[in-house]
Amino acid sequence: MSEADRGVPASLRLRRLRRTEELRRSLSETDLDPARLVYPVFVRPGGGAPEPIESLPGVERHPLESLGERAREWDRDGVRAVLLFGVPRVKDPEGSGAVDPDGLIPQAIRAIRHSVPTLRIVTDVCLCAYTDHGQCGLLRAGEVDNDATVERLARMALAHARAGADMVAPSAMMDHQVREIRAALDRAGQTATAILAYAAKFASPLYGPFREAAGSAPKSGDRRSYQLPIGNAREALREMAADAAEGADLLMVKPALPYLDILARARRRFDLPLVAYQVSGEYAMLRAAAARGWIDEAAAIDESLIAMRRAGADWIITYFAREVAARARREGR
Ligand code: PBG
Ligand code: ZN
Repeated sequence: MSEADRGVPASLRLRRLRRTEELRRSLSETDLDPARLVYPVFVRPGGGAPEPIESLPGVERHPLESLGERAREWDRDGVRAVLLFGVPRVKDPEGSGAVDPDGLIPQAIRAIRHSVPTLRIVTDVCLCAYTDHGQCGLLRAGEVDNDATVERLARMALAHARAGADMVAPSAMMDHQVREIRAALDRAGQTATAILAYAAKFASPLYGPFREAAGSAPKSGDRRSYQLPIGNAREALREMAADAAEGADLLMVKPALPYLDILARARRRFDLPLVAYQVSGEYAMLRAAAARGWIDEAAAIDESLIAMRRAGADWIITYFAREVAARARREGR
């Protein structure tokens, strides 16, 4: 017996269970139910046509005035949940627009809720699209002031909750942001609003297309004083543990595909639902290769999402959500 044969009986034929599509499907270990997908949506004030985003082909900035109509289309395609990002016209040093109870996102929440009451609404809670300097927090003497930022994020989250968001998703990577948001929501009686914590958010170049979409690139410097160093897995797990202890209902890992090791380790360590965010750069890479005919687009999209599910993600936030749901519907899945 050769080394390679040891322990494997001659009767073993793994290919027996791969013979037909019906058999393979019946034994699938990992599903890609559209109910697990969350569709990111960029909202801008006013009316007119949706604006394309060059580095995110197929993704648009939607005007507030037609958002309700759009939501009905997403619903018809089988989208179950959206993650809202505001792209305000006016920005200032304090990100004032972010905390306005009648601001862009509160209005967007009401419009969607009115037109498709069943659509789950998650909102991004961060200041970078609202500040003129583009940092995720408030600046004091040139540095991001953690505690002043957290206070503002809590006001922002409360405005979203009061407008009817099901879930708020703080993404600024400030210490104690989850604890302070939970406290503010509870004090105001918004105990049913869940917190999806961007817990392990790495300082990634893959956010580039998003920053073009949201006009949120930092004017100077970078985000490395708050986002995670890309090589630090243990530190990422400490961030996740902190957010869990502070009251997060779900924990996110972001980006997704390059960080499946973090997701798999988090799956073993935490009992909370886990969420993977397939970010703008991951989307752009797949789209760009597919546009050149270098990969099979639908198959590559599915493979990327199934990999995230296999690693332990309960939900996936992806710009492909709408087309994956529509395809599942067409194919009767
Ligand atoms: C805001 C935020 C970012 C993303 C989600 N929320 C950008 C950033 O941190 O610069 C990135 C999402 C994507 O790239 O698709 N803090
Ligand atoms: Zn931010």
